[in-house]
Amino acid sequence: MKPILQAYIIDFNRSDNLLDAITNFFTVHNDIETLNHTLKVASEAQRVAKLYDVDPAKAEQAALLHDISNVIPISDMLHVAEELSIEIMDEERKYSRIVHQKLSRAMAEEVFGVTDSEILCAIECHTTLKANSSLFDKIIFISDKISWELPGNHQYLTDIRSKVDELELIEGILIYLNNIWDQKTKLKLIHPWLIEAREELLKKISHLPSGLSKPAQRALSGSGLWKLEQISKLSEAELLQLHGLGSKSIRQIREALEMKGLSFSNKS
Ligand SMILES: [Fe+2]
Ligand SMILES: [Fe+2]
Repeated sequence: MKPILQAYIIDFNRSDNLLDAITNFFTVHNDIETLNHTLKVASEAQRVAKLYDVDPAKAEQAALLHDISNVIPISDMLHVAEELSIEIMDEERKYSRIVHQKLSRAMAEEVFGVTDSEILCAIECHTTLKANSSLFDKIIFISDKISWELPGNHQYLTDIRSKVDELELIEGILIYLNNIWDQKTKLKLIHPWLIEAREELLKKISHLPSGLSKPAQRALSGSGLWKLEQISKLSEAELLQLHGLGSKSIRQIREALEMKGLSFSNKS
């Protein structure tokens, strides 16, 4: 293990059983909050992996390791990343907590001896996702998000869970990414990997007319409307209530609907 990590790692019981080892790891580091979160993500990742025909044991391993760098104080994360020769982006220097996904990957290799590149890759992008993500990356990413028990009512989390269970994984991920995107003025920054992931997935899934203005595209995607079939369940009046949509956009959408043999709903 690299010396810089030794300074942060208390000796723990390195059981061959990763669940036992991780439980002991967080317990000796007195981080029960991360342990509880980790166990929830691990059980969710196994459940979601089975839904999508992915190896649940492997998903459990990635989930158990995804937040191991939480034992490093946030104020030390950049320094440790530098010592480990991890490439640090400007955005990560401004908001150092976000580098924990890369640190967890390095620790999975260094402390737990993980060599499986799929597991390491999923750990590395579990907070932000990234462009060209694999199905395995997406499963770990979304399992982390839907395991949060946030106080209050968070409809978007309920919507994500439904989409994941309906095997609409990309739609579920986009609900989360759009939720972040909508808060961009409030947030300190948005990680470039997240921006690239969102743009790529929006392109992949969108069946909207290509000539639509940017504000109209944002209004629709921000409301979870990426497919003409979804839009056809709404009336023109309902669509016009979305900020960013005007009569020109409505005409473009109407024409695209007609091309597919669809129309706006007649409900008033
Ligand atoms: Fe995390
Ligand atoms: Fe997490």
